[in-house]
Amino acid sequence: MKKKILITRKYPEAGISLLREQGFDLTLWEKDRPMTPMELADLAKDHQALVCTLTDRIDRDFLGKCPHLDIISQFAVGYDNIDIASATRLRIPVGYTPGAMTEATADIAFGLMIAVARKMFFMHKTIISGQWGYFNPTGHLGMELTGKTLGIFGLGRIGFSLARRCKAAYGMKILYHNRTRNAEAEQALGAGFVDFNDLLAQSDILSVHCALTPETRQIFNQAAFKKMKPSAIFINTARGPVHHEGDLIEALREGRIRGAGLDVTDPEPMRPDNPLLSMENACVLPHVGSATMEARTQMSVLAAMNIIEFYRTGKVPHIVNPEVLNP
Ligand code: GLV
Repeated sequence: MKKKILITRKYPEAGISLLREQGFDLTLWEKDRPMTPMELADLAKDHQALVCTLTDRIDRDFLGKCPHLDIISQFAVGYDNIDIASATRLRIPVGYTPGAMTEATADIAFGLMIAVARKMFFMHKTIISGQWGYFNPTGHLGMELTGKTLGIFGLGRIGFSLARRCKAAYGMKILYHNRTRNAEAEQALGAGFVDFNDLLAQSDILSVHCALTPETRQIFNQAAFKKMKPSAIFINTARGPVHHEGDLIEALREGRIRGAGLDVTDPEPMRPDNPLLSMENACVLPHVGSATMEARTQMSVLAAMNIIEFYRTGKVPHIVNPEVLNP
């Protein structure tokens, strides 16, 4: 019997075609919003596999209603929306799409860094509000990036890619803090491993690239911002809850740090009246790190291949919980 796959959003056609060519029976959710938890569970009950993404809540409650699923294939590198422990207990493999969005997300972090250093979003708004005025020799002076120190919190693929850009473009010194040392970054980029407090104290630009876990949730809070340089820029393109938004706003208002660039917020979407959106020293984007044709296409292909290979060979090329398949 044909396997039925529930596809929770309009993902790029490249991956969908691969699944279609394999003869799977696809159910496509065509609306421009994620399903509610109830809609998701009701539909998934009647399917064997799921292609989902970070806005779908694959929590204990959902998995309790759908323990029959053969495989969950996440269209994202982050998977904090999925209760991995419950999926593993139910022996459901969870696939994901690492690598596909590395360059795209590093570009967004790099862009935000420059945008914050030069107050680009705010300066753009002064034109719209008729405040351009005259060339101002002393107005809104920014910071140059050449020779500065980049601190990476969570140096994996994306952090590496940002560090490579910063070293090539600005000769930056690279520091990082990780659970485990990254020998490749140390060798190729001269990256220095430091403890969390040193990362806070020494970084001119501190960029977050970790996964959201209980350990990293709100690790960038008042205590952390207090340890940073008043001239430092904070960048988060990973997950919003890694920083405490109220503490970040306070740190920016009080000049404890120079500025912040965010591609992720907590909650998402950010409300349009959020104070960060009218601050001179903040640049916020609506979670578009992986939003390039190249990245999203490749993500759809990897998400599809995880399902195709699972049914063909019993292996999932990019799997979060390999212990499910190799007990
Ligand atoms: C995007 O945020 C992802 O995790 O791929």
